[in-house]
Amino acid sequence: MRKQIAAANWKMNLTYPQAENLLTDVLNANADLKENQQVVFAVPSPYLTMTNGLLAQKDNYFTAAQNCFNKKSGAYTGEISAEMLHSLDIEFCVIGHSERREYFGEDGKMLAEKIDLCLEFDITPIFCCGEPLPIREANTQNDYVETQLKESLFHLTADQLDNIVIAYEPIWAIGTGKTATTGQAQEMHAFLRYTLANQYGANVADLISILYGGSVKAGNAKELFSCADVDGGLVGGASLIAADFIQIIHSLK
Ligand code: PGA
Repeated sequence: MRKQIAAANWKMNLTYPQAENLLTDVLNANADLKENQQVVFAVPSPYLTMTNGLLAQKDNYFTAAQNCFNKKSGAYTGEISAEMLHSLDIEFCVIGHSERREYFGEDGKMLAEKIDLCLEFDITPIFCCGEPLPIREANTQNDYVETQLKESLFHLTADQLDNIVIAYEPIWAIGTGKTATTGQAQEMHAFLRYTLANQYGANVADLISILYGGSVKAGNAKELFSCADVDGGLVGGASLIAADFIQIIHSLK
């Protein structure tokens, strides 16, 4: 059965005590998770160990890094490797968020290298894709997102792909308060699954979790997650407020 995932992406927000309080509040809500439901917190690197320690008390809660570098180790001051994350027992890493692509010049090839390193070290990449507004306005979003998959994922074997989570995040919906309609989300998620099925077969495609991201809120999560091909969300702003993120967790299928 496909996993349904509520993933928080804190980005560069919260001090250490604020982060501890937020995690404690969410854990204290004791959300009754089904076996196929997971909650993931993508936290700033200095908080990885603390987060993993707190989440270890509960099944189905996981820590994610927000990024790692595309080299195994060496003279790359300031960077963090997949192997380091593995040595901290981190099981997920966000790869290719549009903010990394835009502000740090990360391209499809670099992201493919990051994906390979994550898989080598047993870390599940949460691979982000999604189009900017002009591409949506020109109605070429399917080609754009298909190219993103081809560049960074299609070198993988079917077995490797099984360990990938995809997050579709239309850039025009991130942090803007402008959410994709359920129709737009479902259409793109179905297209992504169709594209994966063409490459890897329907059985493989059917098992891949595809999250929606872009202004997911407590008030719209249930509707978005109810779409057949939407398997949860990657949540920025609303994941910084415990009550909101708890409600988003409760919205999982
Ligand atoms: P948002 O961010 O929920 O604040 O739009 C989502 C993301 O960038 O992952």
